[in-house]
Amino acid sequence: MDKLIIKGGKELFGSVEIGGAKNAAVAVLPAAIMASKSICVIDNIPEIEDIQCEERIIESLGCKITRVKNSVTIDSTMLKSVKADTDDVRKMRASYYLIGALLGRFKKASVELPGGCPIGVRPIDQHIKGFEALGARVNIEHGTIIVEADRLIGTNIYFDVVSVGATINVMLAATLAEGTTVLENAAKEPHVVDVANFLNTMGANIKGAGTDVIRIVGVKELIGCNYSVIPDQIEAGTYMVAAAACGGSVTINNVIPKHLESISAKLVEMGAEVIELDDSVTVKSKKNLKGVNIKTLPYPGFPTDVQQPMSTLLCVSQGRSIINESIFECRFKHIDELKKMGAHIKVEGRIAIIDGVKKLTGAVVKASDLRAGAAMVIAGLIAEGSTEVTSIEHIDRGYPHIENKFKALGADIVRASQD
Ligand code: UD1
Repeated sequence: MDKLIIKGGKELFGSVEIGGAKNAAVAVLPAAIMASKSICVIDNIPEIEDIQCEERIIESLGCKITRVKNSVTIDSTMLKSVKADTDDVRKMRASYYLIGALLGRFKKASVELPGGCPIGVRPIDQHIKGFEALGARVNIEHGTIIVEADRLIGTNIYFDVVSVGATINVMLAATLAEGTTVLENAAKEPHVVDVANFLNTMGANIKGAGTDVIRIVGVKELIGCNYSVIPDQIEAGTYMVAAAACGGSVTINNVIPKHLESISAKLVEMGAEVIELDDSVTVKSKKNLKGVNIKTLPYPGFPTDVQQPMSTLLCVSQGRSIINESIFECRFKHIDELKKMGAHIKVEGRIAIIDGVKKLTGAVVKASDLRAGAAMVIAGLIAEGSTEVTSIEHIDRGYPHIENKFKALGADIVRASQD
C-alpha cells in the first residue's frame, strides 16, 4: 500500500489535463457488453483502479478487452456468463450496472451486491423497483442479486428518490425491453446524459436524458460503435478547489465548463476568479477567501462528490461556513482528519459548521474514502509542514496520476510505500 507525502505551502501555477469521467466510464463499459454482434471502441477512459477492476469483471464474463492508452476495445460477441461473482464485484459500486446490462441482453443476471465508498447506507431499492416494473423477478440470496425475466415490457416508472445509479441501471435494461419505458424523477447528471448518448450511438432510442423525464423506446439489439467519454466533472472540480485553496493560477483543460457551474459560482462567491473558455476553466486565487454555505444537491446543484474537497478549502476561509450534506448520511469521515490538522469543525448529523482558521498544520491523516482522500491531499497542500496521507488506494480508485498532476503544478508531493 502507498501513501502520499506532501510538504505544504506552495502556490499552484500552470495547467492540468482532466481525464474521462469515472462515473460515466463505469456505466459505459457495462453498456458496451450489450452489443451482441460487434465491438465497441471507447476513448477517454480514465486510468484508475475502479476501471481496471471493472474491466477484470467484464473479462470474467467472457468478453475480450484490449486497452491502448485511454482507448478501450470491448468485444462482447462471445459473452456467455451472466454471473458476476469475483472479489472485484464487491470492491466497487458501479458493478451494479452489470445487472441492467445483462438483464437487457440476456433477460437474466446474477451479480454480487456492490461495494464502493462507505458514505452511507446506499440502498438499491429504486434499481429493484425499476427492474420489477419492467417485468423482472428479483431475489437476493447469499449476498447476490438474481434478476430474471421471461420478457421485459416497457412501462412508466416514477423514482422515489433522484438516483444516478437507478436511472442509469433501469435505462440500460429498458433499452432492450419491448415497447416504451418512461423514467420520471430521473437523475440529470452529465454522466446520465453521456450513457444515454452512448446507448443511442449503439442504436438505442432514448430521449430526454438530462431532464427529469427520460423516454426509452425499446429496440431489438444494440450494435458496437466508437465513442468518447465526457471529461470528469468531479476531477475538474477537485483541481479548481485545490487552486482556490493553495492560491496561484491554474488552467484546467479538457472540461465542459457548463458541468462545473455550481462549483465555479461558489468559488466566485468566495472571492476567487474563474475564467471559462470553451473547454477550459482558469482559477485564480489570492487565498484567504470568504467562507460560504453549501448544500449538496442532485445536478445541477452542488455535487456531493466535491463537498469533501470543498470543506478543506472552507477550513481556511474567513468566517463561518455551513455545509448541508443532503445526499449521503455519512459523508463527513474526513472531518476528524481535518481536525487533526487544526481545523475548527463541528458536525451535527448532516450539517458541518466550519469556523475558518488561519492555517492547517501537517499531520498523518487517512483517506477514508475516495473524495475524502482528495480532501486530505488538498489539506496537505495548504498545511504548514509535512502531511502524510495514508490509505491512498481509495484515491487511486478515482483520480488518475494525482501526485504527478499536482507536482506539475508546483506542489511538493511524492508517493511512497506505506510499509
Ligand atoms: C453516484 C456516483 C457517486 C455520487 C452519487 C450522487 C457513480 C458510480 N457514483 O452514486 O459518485 O456521489 O451518484 O451524485 O456514479 N438511493 C436510494 N435508493 C436507491 C438508490 C439511491 O435511496 O435505490 C439514495 C442514496 O442512498 C442516496 C441518493 O439516493 O442518498 C443518491 O444516490 P445515487 O444517486 O443512487 O448514488 P450512486 O448512484 O450510488
